[in-house]
This record gives sequence, structure tokens and C-alpha cells, in this order.
Amino acid sequence: MTMADDISRYEAGAAYVDGLYMPLAEAAIPITDWGYRRSDVTYDVVGVRDGAFFRLDDHIARFRASMTAFRMAPAESDDDIKAILHRCVALSGLRDAYVAMDCLRGRPVAGQPYHPAFARNYIAAFAMPWISLLKPDVMERGAHLAIVETRRIGAQAVDPRAKNFHWADLTRGQFEALERQADFCILLGDDGNVTEGPGFNVFAVRDGRIATPDHGVLEGITRRSVIELAAELGLELEIRPIGAEEFRDADEIFLSTTAGGVMPATRIDGRIMANDRPGPVSRRILETFWARRAAGWHATPVDYAAARVPAVA
Ligand SMILES: Cc1ncc(COP(=O)(O)O)c(C=O)c1O
Repeated sequence: MTMADDISRYEAGAAYVDGLYMPLAEAAIPITDWGYRRSDVTYDVVGVRDGAFFRLDDHIARFRASMTAFRMAPAESDDDIKAILHRCVALSGLRDAYVAMDCLRGRPVAGQPYHPAFARNYIAAFAMPWISLLKPDVMERGAHLAIVETRRIGAQAVDPRAKNFHWADLTRGQFEALERQADFCILLGDDGNVTEGPGFNVFAVRDGRIATPDHGVLEGITRRSVIELAAELGLELEIRPIGAEEFRDADEIFLSTTAGGVMPATRIDGRIMANDRPGPVSRRILETFWARRAAGWHATPVDYAAARVPAVA
């Protein structure tokens, strides 16, 4: 095999699993791993646009906080994880990438009690071509949302601030949304207040004032960016409980996530908002977000030279 053939194997994406780098298609985890059998895994996702990570240190800090919350301690330090992510993107050569990092529980070490405390936790990561939660036509017309019957798993059981794959509630909600011809479900918490949707935080706008839920949600890095931008733009933004009725009556709703940025919604439970077009506040936040991104806001250039160092961790 020539060097060119070798590099091209990484074009669809590159991965790192427990110390080794490989093309994304070859990455796998053992079927007996508790990361798979029990969803005993935590993760984070950082975006790369125009060859630069967005808020890399914030994602690494949240990933470490999630690992600590799940009592996971892999061998890799934060700096090691950063180097792994740089190398995955560099190997793939991608300028726009979706970059995931996972920490898996693993399996109890032989001879130790059959208990998660005795498992060897390890890191898996990958870079693949950038994906957006909303297809371009949905981004254009705005997402259609439905507040569904399924409730968000209680924070007393699974802390939503630690990023996790306990998605049975969100998945069930997506089937309810489909039955109601909506693109995405919005889940209420045990207390009846709005939480979040499958992979995004939510914002409601009323009389020019923005609100986003204060509890029962992942504290999204894009959400944090929206909060910062609203302050810069002089827009009023409150972080507080939002009831279902208030949410349904909003003038505008928009969503935020790494995989898509700021995403407008135009319908909630069949009700049309802002003449069925993304509303002015949503558009202002969205446009400012991408303008700031294009200007290098919170950007860390990918070290593409990292592809040349030996492929063993
Ligand atoms: C449940 C949930 N809420 C919110 C978000 C948005 O977080 P971020 O902006 O950090 O991508 C995600 C992202 O994947 C998520 O899974």
C-alpha cells in the first residue's frame, strides 16, 4: 500500500480507541463493554469549522466534569485528550468536522468484584464530516416542534448536566413528534417545566425578551454562547423555569446545539409563530453567532501537522 492509499483511508473520518488510531470505519468497542451494555458512557462533541475548534477548552472542561460525575477516570489527561482530538481531525484532513470524545466504563478487571468501581475506563474519540441537526430546508423554514407526553428522565436519577446516552426518553419523544408531524420533541420535566429536546437547548422569546430553562438541562456550550451574545447585543435574557403554556405562547422559539449552532423554530404544537418564518430575534442571534464564528470567536486552529506524528498514542 502506498502512503497516499494509507492517508485516503482516513478521509471519511479518523478515530482513536483506547490508545490506537484508525480509520473511522474500523473503530469498534467490545460488545461486552458496559459502555454499550449499560449505556455506561459519557461524552462530549466539539465542532470544527474552517479548520478551527470552537470553544475547545470549554468542551474539554465539561467532558472532565461529566467523567467526574459518572466517577470515571481514564488514563488520559485533558492535554492528552486535546492532542487526540487534534490528531483525529488532522488525520481526516477535514476542515469542517463533528468531533466526538467518549469515556467508556469498560469491564471489571479479572479477579476484581463485578462492580463498576473496578472497571478500567478508557477514551474513544473520532472526527467525521460536519453534520447539522437541521437539514438546510428545515433551517430555512424553521423547525416544527411538539411538546410530548414523555417526560425527561428525572435529574435525581440521571443528572442531565453530565452528558449521557440515556436517550430512551428523547427517542420515545421523537416517535411522538413524528406522529404529530413535528420535526422534534420538547420534553417537560417532572415539575411540568420545559427542559430540552433531542440534542439541543431551547430559548423562548416574548416581547423581545429571551428566556431559557435554568434546570433539568445539559448546560450547552452553544447555549452559553447565546447567553454571551444576547448580553453583547443588549438583549434581555433570563435563565429561569419556563412553563409549557408560556412556551406554547412564545413569539419566537429557537434551539441551540454544537451540531447546527442556532436553529430557528416556526411551529409549536401546530401553532404558527412569526408568520411561519424564523423571527427577528432568532435571526439576529443566528447571524451574529455565525459572524462571530467566521471572525475567529473562541477558535482554536487545528494542528494539522499532528497527522505526521507516529500513529501510536
Ligand atoms: C440533551 C442535550 N441538550 C443540549 C445539547 C446542546 O449542547 P451543546 O450546545 O454543548 O452542543 C446537547 C448536545 O448534544 C444535548 O445532547
